Amino acid sequence: MAIKFLHNDENIKGDAQIILSLGKNLLLKGPTGSGKTRLAEDLTGELGKNMYSINCSVDVDIESLLGFKTIEYNEGRQEITFIDGPVIRAMKEGAMLYIDEINMAKPEVLPILNAALDYRRTITNPLTGDTIVADEGFNVIAAINVGYVGTMPMNEALLNRFNVIEIGYVSKESLREVLNSQSIQKDASLIESITDFHEDLVTMTEQGQISQEASSVRSLIDLADLSTKMPIGRACYRAIIDKLDSEQEKKAILNAAELQFGM
Ligand SMILES: Nc1ncnc2c1ncn2[C@@H]1O[C@H](COP(=O)(O)OP(=O)(O)O)[C@@H](O)[C@H]1O
Ligand SMILES: [Mg+2]
Repeated sequence: MAIKFLHNDENIKGDAQIILSLGKNLLLKGPTGSGKTRLAEDLTGELGKNMYSINCSVDVDIESLLGFKTIEYNEGRQEITFIDGPVIRAMKEGAMLYIDEINMAKPEVLPILNAALDYRRTITNPLTGDTIVADEGFNVIAAINVGYVGTMPMNEALLNRFNVIEIGYVSKESLREVLNSQSIQKDASLIESITDFHEDLVTMTEQGQISQEASSVRSLIDLADLSTKMPIGRACYRAIIDKLDSEQEKKAILNAAELQFGM
C-alpha cells in the first residue's frame, strides 16, 4: 500500500493539485517532518510523473542543477558529452522537479533557474550554450523548513515565482491515521496516548514553550515505532526530547510525557 499524505486541512492537497494543474510552481512551507516531501511524492505519483530532486542544504552548484561534461569513448574516439542534471532532465521529460530547502541555496546559484520557473519555461545552459525549452508536463515543487534557528528568508525574485501552501499541524484524527498506516506500533490505546501527547506538544508550541520541530510527525512515528521495543519513556527521549538543546524545552516535554504516559 502506498503511503499517502494525510491532513485534516483538505485544501492543502486540493489547492496543490490545482496549482500544479495550472502549470504553476508550488512552494510548500512547514516545519521539518510535517510531510512536505511526502506530499510532493504523492502529487507526483498521482500525475504519473518521475520526480527529480535537488537538496539545497547540501552544496548546490550549477553543475549539480544542470549537469556536467564528461569524456566518453565512442569506437575508440574520445568525445566530450554532457550529462544532464536534474533540472534539465525534468524539463526535457516534462517531469516533476522537487527543490528541497530552497532557502538554503547559496544566493548566486538559483537565479540560473529564473527563466525556467516563470512563463518562459526555458533555460540557457551556460555550460553548453544550449537553450532548453521545457516539455509541457514540467512541474516544480519547492519546500522550505520554517520554524527553526538558521532558517533563511527566501530570495524575493524567486519567491515571486511560486504559489505558497503552508502545512500546519495535523489534527489528532489525521495523526492517528498516519500512525496506523506508517508505524509498526499496533497497540490502539498507546497510539491514542501518542496522539494526545501530540496535542499537548502542539499547544506548547503555540504558547511558545517549545520549538515547532518537537511536534513533527516524523518524530511521532519514531516514538510509536521505538515504543514497540523499549519503554515509552525511553522512546520519548530518543525520538523527541534528546533532539532538543534547550533544557527548558526538554523539561516541558518531559512533564507532558510523564502526565500522558504515567512514566
Ligand atoms: N501529513 C502527513 N501525512 C502522511 N505522512 C506524513 C505526514 N507528515 C509527515 N509524514 C511522515 O513523516 C515522515 C516525514 O515526512 P516528510 O515528508 O519527509 O517531512 P518534511 O519533508 O516536511 O521534512 C515521513 O515518513 C512521512 O511519511
Ligand atoms: Mg523533506
